[in-house]
Amino acid sequence: MKKIALIGCGTIGKEIALAIDKKNINATITAIYDVIPEKAEDLKNILKNNFPIITGTIKEAVGTCDLIVECASQNAVNEISKTAFPSKKDVFILSVGALIAYPQIMKSARRFNVKVLFPSGAIAGLDAVRAAKLSGIVSSTLTTRKPPVALGLNLKKEKIIFRGSAKDAIKKFPANINVAAALSICSIGPENTKVIIIADPKIKRNTHEIEVISKSGRILARTENMPSPDNPKTSYLASLSAIANLRELCQ
Ligand SMILES: NC(=O)c1ccc[n+]([C@@H]2O[C@H](COP(=O)([O-])OP(=O)(O)OC[C@H]3O[C@@H](n4cnc5c(N)ncnc54)[C@H](O)[C@@H]3O)[C@@H](O)[C@H]2O)c1
Repeated sequence: MKKIALIGCGTIGKEIALAIDKKNINATITAIYDVIPEKAEDLKNILKNNFPIITGTIKEAVGTCDLIVECASQNAVNEISKTAFPSKKDVFILSVGALIAYPQIMKSARRFNVKVLFPSGAIAGLDAVRAAKLSGIVSSTLTTRKPPVALGLNLKKEKIIFRGSAKDAIKKFPANINVAAALSICSIGPENTKVIIIADPKIKRNTHEIEVISKSGRILARTENMPSPDNPKTSYLASLSAIANLRELCQ
């Protein structure tokens, strides 16, 4: 049974911990850590099993497990990489933008021969994009539509508020960071992947559409996401996608 250290006890961390607690993931939690200790306490208190040990540092948590599951922040991914990789431990991350913000993370993972895994999160079709990459990708585009209020705007008509590379989108729209990062890593990189962000008063749900044109054909995939029951900023699909991946990894 896989031993998991959970870093970050917010919306996604809680969903993953509950899935392990209900035995929907065949794993045990050896440590939980959150930069806000009360968040780790609150999570421990809602779990029926008595397994999680709250640690005071990421390093301590890493020492207890064979897989680190990160649901915290880009900084946390960077910090985790410094202790997990030399200990030859694989990591499963949600804050995918960290791989672009801190390019040294992937270099270090290759050096220590460890795996950095991430789920498709709030978008669909990354399995096909990874396959298409083998044939050669010609273009890769993410179009995100959000209700204007989600972007702090009050508009009656749709408006393109960003058009540019994934690299620039990640800097200017950190809330969109993980989907843009995941698509660009699986396709043609952050400089060449295009991102369009549209404020659209006609939609109620955050919508992501990816279009990838490759020598093997055209991939079009669209998700219209419900918010997480606990946190309107996080798509419910992101937690579910992490849980589905962890179920497979821990079989
Ligand atoms: N891949 C995707 O599609 C996708 C989708 C949604 C969110 N995310 C990312 O996943 C991460 C978690 O999302 P969430 O909705 O659960 O966020 P959240 O804000 O609900 O929870 C994050 C938790 O991590 C803790 N935290 C922050 N920095 C930390 C650090 N350095 N060390 C330890 N704990 C730390 C916070 O205190 C908080 O409890 C975020 O980085 C978010 O951007 C990814």
